[in-house]
Amino acid sequence: MDWLFGRQTPTFLICVLFQLTAFPGKCKLVVKQPNRTLTGQMKKLHFVQTRGTASAIFVLIFTNSQLSAAQDAVGRRLTMEALALERKAEQNRELRERLLQLKKERNAIILAHYYQRDEIQEVADFRGDSFLLAQKAAATDADVIVFCGVHFMGESAKILAPHKTVLVPDERAGCPMADMVNPIGLRELKAKHPNAKVVTYINSSADVKAETDICCTSANAIKVVNSVDSDEVIWCPDKNLGHYVAQHTDKKMIIWEGYCNTHDMLTVKDVVEMRAKHPNAQFVVHPECRPEVVEMADFVGSTTGILKYCKESDCKEFIVGTEDGTGYQLRVDSPDKTFHFASKFLVCPNMKVNNLKKVVRALETMQPQIYVPEDVANKARLSLERMLLVK
Ligand code: 13P
Ligand code: SF4
Repeated sequence: MDWLFGRQTPTFLICVLFQLTAFPGKCKLVVKQPNRTLTGQMKKLHFVQTRGTASAIFVLIFTNSQLSAAQDAVGRRLTMEALALERKAEQNRELRERLLQLKKERNAIILAHYYQRDEIQEVADFRGDSFLLAQKAAATDADVIVFCGVHFMGESAKILAPHKTVLVPDERAGCPMADMVNPIGLRELKAKHPNAKVVTYINSSADVKAETDICCTSANAIKVVNSVDSDEVIWCPDKNLGHYVAQHTDKKMIIWEGYCNTHDMLTVKDVVEMRAKHPNAQFVVHPECRPEVVEMADFVGSTTGILKYCKESDCKEFIVGTEDGTGYQLRVDSPDKTFHFASKFLVCPNMKVNNLKKVVRALETMQPQIYVPEDVANKARLSLERMLLVK
């Protein structure tokens, strides 16, 4: 009632009182509730009241019947959503218990990339970027590795730990950038530049790694390129990361034209708009983004680099230019800071193919497993092991 008497004109109040008397069951003063749908309806009432009593009464009646319907629909939806959330939480509790039991039975370890869904990162033994997870896979005592990421990550784990069983929650979780380079094309490029060493981003297939001198991740790309004993480097497959590395090395870089569909989607316009909305925030970016976007950043780094920077910085607010799954670790590390993702499109659909249910099912059925032909694995392993040795 405060709202009604505090803000409305006498004409409007008369209309309302008239209607309350004439239609006692229908007009319930629902306008007082702080609900979005109802606020929308209230605007209609304001508008109508300027046109006189008769039309105000008419529309008020009409609006009230709409309000009841809208209120019922909103109420029903909220109840359904609350029930669905409760059900999901219950299912996840059961899945987590089952997972603990299976992990023990199989002597398994769960590795999860920072881009995985929160429900997977929550249960992981190790969360990490591509580099850290490759290290963990190479060093683990477990018999079974469940690699929650995309296919090339599971493959790298299998190459580094050939005697272990490597499971992935869903073998359809691929990486479009990894698919942008193939061994035939790479061999042709090598033939054109016989003196160049091949540095390949870990986001690549085992076949491509087998054609590679040394692998790298975004965390060590500059160090790896600078470590090779040639003046020329064939770089594949990420042109954006290649462009970034080229600015930090004297080597001549021959850059493949691949890119990450997710990071490459971030534009200068997105960042300008976000900066206008959040003027106190620093912009942190992954070098898989376009060069013109990377140039705008306060900090450029791999996923781990971004996490470390945000954790250690005195700044309290960040615009984040990388995949939105990193939000989980950012919030764990700095619950008092605010993170805005620079675009709603910073979601890798491939990473999100996995879910907790599939992780449990993989351990139950011991499928899908990653297999890499031995000859390919033996060649690819050299390129990964060389990377792990770079300090
Ligand atoms: P990093 O894990 O090296 O940051 O790579 C990002 C990425 O796109 C993984 O697919
Ligand atoms: Fe591939 Fe980009 Fe997805 Fe990483 S984020 S898996 S590079 S598509």
